[in-house]
Amino acid sequence: MRDALGRTIDYLRLSVTDACNLRCGYCVSRGEGPACPGGSPLDDGEVLALVRAFARLGVSRVRVTGGEPLLRPGLEGLVGGIAGVAGVRSVSLSTNGVLLAEAAPRLAAAGLSRVNISLDTLRPERMRRLAGADRLAEVLAGVDAALAAGLRPVKVNVVVARGCNEDEVPDFVRLASERDVHVRFIELMPIGNTGFFTPERRVGVAELLERAGPLEPLPEGERPCGAGPASYFRPRGARGTVGFIGALSRCFCSACNRVRLTSRGRILLCIGREGPELDLAALLRAGASEPELDAALGAFIRLKPARHRMSAEAGPARNSMCSVGG
Ligand code: 5AD
Ligand code: SF4
Repeated sequence: MRDALGRTIDYLRLSVTDACNLRCGYCVSRGEGPACPGGSPLDDGEVLALVRAFARLGVSRVRVTGGEPLLRPGLEGLVGGIAGVAGVRSVSLSTNGVLLAEAAPRLAAAGLSRVNISLDTLRPERMRRLAGADRLAEVLAGVDAALAAGLRPVKVNVVVARGCNEDEVPDFVRLASERDVHVRFIELMPIGNTGFFTPERRVGVAELLERAGPLEPLPEGERPCGAGPASYFRPRGARGTVGFIGALSRCFCSACNRVRLTSRGRILLCIGREGPELDLAALLRAGASEPELDAALGAFIRLKPARHRMSAEAGPARNSMCSVGG
């Protein structure tokens, strides 16, 4: 379907849990009260009923996120169910990779197409500081297991923050040279009540490019599938690629194709601003019929705002990452 601005909405980011086994500074809320509003979490049947509604309106790609989605019991079964929904052409996963090594083959067998792994440092002691625990060996094993299971492309998402990991940009470029992974450097965004974002901590795309060293632009045809807002390059002689995502310095809202569903069944239209909300779970639980769900959903998506309201100077957007998964 199209929103009021003519953007085709065909991509759903679906959070399946608020829980996480890491504590990344830019994600963990310091706020009072529940970080993730809404009713009780959706069970598998409810998730599938809502994914079917999105698919009837034209969503063809679903990304499973969290929290950390691998903490949801029975995730393979749910992934299999989503992959089987009429109209869904691909199911992908965003994970911190800690539990991926063991899960990758089962998820691939269940119908998962590809995976994004969040990893902000390649140094064990730093991971302990930035993410609350040193699980680096498990995450790297997860990267290899995903490659071995054929979950292509494997993307590694690196959120860069000054004073934390900006000196590791060349190390991650090397990771893309040595393995067939697509490393994406992500500019820190002011999201959630974390207290982490400051204008000084943000490292813009121009500086990220400079730190990455000499890169060759990737021809249009070679961009990894599912390439959204990133611009891609290939280090000389590398197997993988590197990409750069800058929500603040290079706004991509005019090409936005996505909506988000929280683990409690609320739809969010934009990650980077407050906006209208629809509690789809409440409608489903009140017994709405399929046509009623479709009508409510269709009318709501038309309200999708033109662009985010994040800026380096303003206060943080209120949405918390634990419920929207990036
Ligand atoms: N700024 C940029 N990226 C973020 N992510 C989570 N919070 C932020 C933030 N404040 C990233 C995660 C993951 C993706 C889902 O979103 O690291 O790669
Ligand atoms: Fe967990 Fe991802 Fe948030 Fe880190 S960014 S705490 S891995 S949900």
